Amino acid sequence: MRKTVIAGNWKMNMTPAKTAEFIKALAPIVAGKDKCDIVLCVPAIDIPAAVEAAKGTNIKIGAENVHFKASGAYTGEISAEMLTEAGVEYVVIGHSERRQYFGETDKTVNLRTLAALNAGLKAIVCVGETLEERELGYTETLLKYQTKMALTNVTAEQMKNVIVAYEPVWAIGTGVTATAEQADEGNGYVRAAIAEAFGADVAEATTVQYGGSMNDKNAAELLAKTNVDGGLIGGASLKTDAFTAIVDAANA
Ligand code: 13P
Repeated sequence: MRKTVIAGNWKMNMTPAKTAEFIKALAPIVAGKDKCDIVLCVPAIDIPAAVEAAKGTNIKIGAENVHFKASGAYTGEISAEMLTEAGVEYVVIGHSERRQYFGETDKTVNLRTLAALNAGLKAIVCVGETLEERELGYTETLLKYQTKMALTNVTAEQMKNVIVAYEPVWAIGTGVTATAEQADEGNGYVRAAIAEAFGADVAEATTVQYGGSMNDKNAAELLAKTNVDGGLIGGASLKTDAFTAIVDAANA
């Protein structure tokens, strides 16, 4: 069966000092809650503090982006090797904020995914439609397209290290959560795209998360859906209580 993965995406929040403090407080509370994998994806500068604080705990550390080249003249970018050497295990790729504000395209999402997988990282690949695309009736088409584009040239074997996160853009940071039915449907489109590209067995084994205003109140209902295998959590991952409640919902 596929693994439930509860991952925080801190975005541009928390300093190194706050990172250490947060993880030290969280670790004893989530210890032993092993029905899900627990991941915190943190800003690059916070990675050393996060890795150090998470040592010996069941919290795994992720980054929020990775460059597709191994090295070179790419000012401001971070390579997969830099991440693995620093102790990072996961990386978020293609978040809608990167697509919206930093020129990320389906092509660069694919290249970053390949670089991450080839370096042994687990990729959390984000897809999602805007409100306009949903209202025009393109949700299924778009989710399938984004999923297939992101996973081009990925092997079936590498799919073991891929998580896809369905994050409807209209639900991110807005307080508007997709209904459990909408989340299940969107995740189902992602799974269908994986089945078309890699076959039913790979699709059944791939963790597909939901993200977008998931919190302590709605997590249980979302996670109860067949196609929702975890969450990618922004705002609520910055609060120990809320994040713990989501982990608890995944362990119920
Ligand atoms: P919020 O949980 O703050 O809506 O953010 C979701 C998200 O973008 C996670 O990657």
